[in-house]
Amino acid sequence: METIEPFVFARMPEIHFGPGKIRQLPNLIAQKGRKVLLVTGAKSFLRSPHYDQLTSSLAENGVAIDHVSVSGEPSPRFVDDTVARLRGTVDCVAAIGGGSVVDAGKAISAMLLQEGSVTAFLEGMETRKHDGRKVPFIAVPTSSGTGAESTKNAVLSDIGPDGYKSSLRHDAFVPDIALVDPELILTCPPDVTAACGLDALTQLIEAYVSTKASPITDALAESGLIRAASGFLAAFEQGATNREARSDMAYAALISGAVLANAGLGVVHGFAGPIGGFHEIPHGVVCGTLVGAATRAVVDALISDTGRYHAALHKYARAGALLTGRTTGDVVGDSRLLVETLETWIERTRIPRLGQFGVRETDLDKILDKSNNKNAPVQLSREQMTGVLRSRL
Ligand SMILES: [Fe+2]
Repeated sequence: METIEPFVFARMPEIHFGPGKIRQLPNLIAQKGRKVLLVTGAKSFLRSPHYDQLTSSLAENGVAIDHVSVSGEPSPRFVDDTVARLRGTVDCVAAIGGGSVVDAGKAISAMLLQEGSVTAFLEGMETRKHDGRKVPFIAVPTSSGTGAESTKNAVLSDIGPDGYKSSLRHDAFVPDIALVDPELILTCPPDVTAACGLDALTQLIEAYVSTKASPITDALAESGLIRAASGFLAAFEQGATNREARSDMAYAALISGAVLANAGLGVVHGFAGPIGGFHEIPHGVVCGTLVGAATRAVVDALISDTGRYHAALHKYARAGALLTGRTTGDVVGDSRLLVETLETWIERTRIPRLGQFGVRETDLDKILDKSNNKNAPVQLSREQMTGVLRSRL
């Protein structure tokens, strides 16, 4: 067994997981204060019976409500405008929605006790250091993907030719509470379910093989992979009725956030920032479309130097065995099993290609200039990275 390398595991939210947990949300909010800001998406949760139940129950608990809805990925301007309107008036922020909604709520909660624009704190362009003071934040995911309910960063986007995606990040931004109710996810449509599920899966795999992984993140990632193995296709094919599959994927996503927050990510997410900044493509689609080709490239690079990279290859092999429930009996074979499974799932769920969102061969250099391997166990060359992108145009 290998020596444990030094590591940090920051923190987890208080987790309330299970069908029907949404009914506990008013009480959890009431424990945080008398005025809540509800952050939701533009459509589905507002139309569901849960929204009316939530607002009337909050009223019964004597909690006043403000509300803001998010469409698309949150921009720094959206956060600044919301905070300017509400600063000093809110005791708690509760975000109920997909990854973008949770990120929006997380950023708003992080800015309500600060002065000035959120852009001053964004990674890569920061001019100020955040002190971690924020308003209590509750995350309630309605899709199973980014794991934003257990991460310490909020991704903000300014999409366009000079666009960017950048994170507001601090250990204190891990949500105080993650309320994960698989019943809220039953209505998530199949294409979103598949893309988000592959994002969660990418996060589990990338954190598992990361150079920053620890025995804690390894154990968590393995438990997430086991659940993704049983839930991924079933959630895509029978998402409206299969509660078990929704639970499995909700757990996998929650854990993917916890492990990425503490072990980092790899080459797929190294591409996702710049691609998402330049082009309007959902994050889950970017990750879902690239994870097969990127994992193949990394595994091939590891196999070509098994002496040096044996430990990392062993982890890819273990991931392959966990995801398929079988083994070929050797490390190279099981690593390839992982790649083949990912590629099969991508094809079966018909994840779109980058070209369908307008990414062209002529865009690749610009994307590659801003991409990196993050904490991947091997550094792919520019040529290898070009090959990954080109294979999914
Ligand atoms: Fe992701």
